[in-house]
Amino acid sequence: MSAVVFSEYGGPEVLSIAQRPVPAPGRTEVLVRISSAAVSTADVIMRKGSPFVARLAMGLLKPGKPVLGTEYSGVVEQCGADVDRFVKGDIVVGATGDDFGAHAQYICVDEQAVLAQVPEGLDAADMLAISEGAMTALPFLRDAGGIRKGMQVLVNGASGSVGSAAVQLARHFGAQVTAVCSAGNAELVRSLGATEVIDYASEDFTAGEARYDIVFDAVGRSSFAACRRVLKPDGAYLCTVLSFGILMQNWLTGRSSGQRARIILTGLRDAKLRAKDLRYICRLAGEGVLKPVIDSRYPLEQVREAHTRVDSGHKRGSVLLDLP
Ligand SMILES: NC(=O)c1ccc[n+]([C@@H]2O[C@H](COP(=O)([O-])OP(=O)(O)OC[C@H]3O[C@@H](n4cnc5c(N)ncnc54)[C@H](OP(=O)(O)O)[C@@H]3O)[C@@H](O)[C@H]2O)c1
Repeated sequence: MSAVVFSEYGGPEVLSIAQRPVPAPGRTEVLVRISSAAVSTADVIMRKGSPFVARLAMGLLKPGKPVLGTEYSGVVEQCGADVDRFVKGDIVVGATGDDFGAHAQYICVDEQAVLAQVPEGLDAADMLAISEGAMTALPFLRDAGGIRKGMQVLVNGASGSVGSAAVQLARHFGAQVTAVCSAGNAELVRSLGATEVIDYASEDFTAGEARYDIVFDAVGRSSFAACRRVLKPDGAYLCTVLSFGILMQNWLTGRSSGQRARIILTGLRDAKLRAKDLRYICRLAGEGVLKPVIDSRYPLEQVREAHTRVDSGHKRGSVLLDLP
């Protein structure tokens, strides 16, 4: 099978396509033939080995996991003898978390892993694009933010994969959503459910008059200190991007009933919880609550171009890699 491999940290040029044996499923595993995989911001961080903290997961001097890719969709090709949750031919969507390995034509995963059936009538690549952002946005809004009907929620970076899912989920939970993005993406975020839109190029949302129950910075371009002004007295500042500052603020406000800051490393959460979330997200997608936002799709041989697009920091939703 073909897989995208890398053996040193650097730009997209460190990626190449190599041939590897197709893995054989164990008794409780399924073999999935991957049709599409997301090229995520986490993939480019791991490829670069920067910020340095990424190397704690990937290897200090060189990458220890040669195949990147966490979110994927495809078809179950073979089942181990003890598998009873899936059958050959099931169309599935999955996430490997910090095991990576999805930028390949095949992957073997345990049937209890983060894997779910794509709802009938939904395209597998569309389901993948929905789940990529929603698997992060859901635990942030629900668990860290305690989102409830009627809340005022601001999403910064609302046009990215996490942000676009957050806008849709927040609307689904009955919140009023203000989206922060560039003018070119205003129409997109309104179509996803935002009622107010702030263009970050011409307006600083932290200087406005509105007050929010949740400020969800999906792209980590703000700070807790700057956002406190626009947070309600018991408001939550949620940030997806790891930094020493957010870790300290998370710890300092950990027991606060007032304003608080939170970060979650969603890919490191318990696999059972993530699997449950994935099934819930699939259900919402099947009901038409969540829509895919796909920036672009690249064939396997253009994996470097796909990484370059993600590196730009301006993708709208997901960048997908299509495997032959
Ligand atoms: N904590 C976790 O477990 C976790 C999990 C997943 C992802 N993440 C992190 O979450 C971040 C977001 O991921 P993503 O895939 O959603 O990102 P993304 O798709 O790369 O975000 C790009 C979007 O951000 C917008 N943007 C760029 N600069 C902005 C600014 N100054 N203000 C507002 N929006 C701006 C861009 O819009 P324009 O083109 O209009 O500028 C673009 O649409 C990444 O840093 C990723 O590492 C964390």
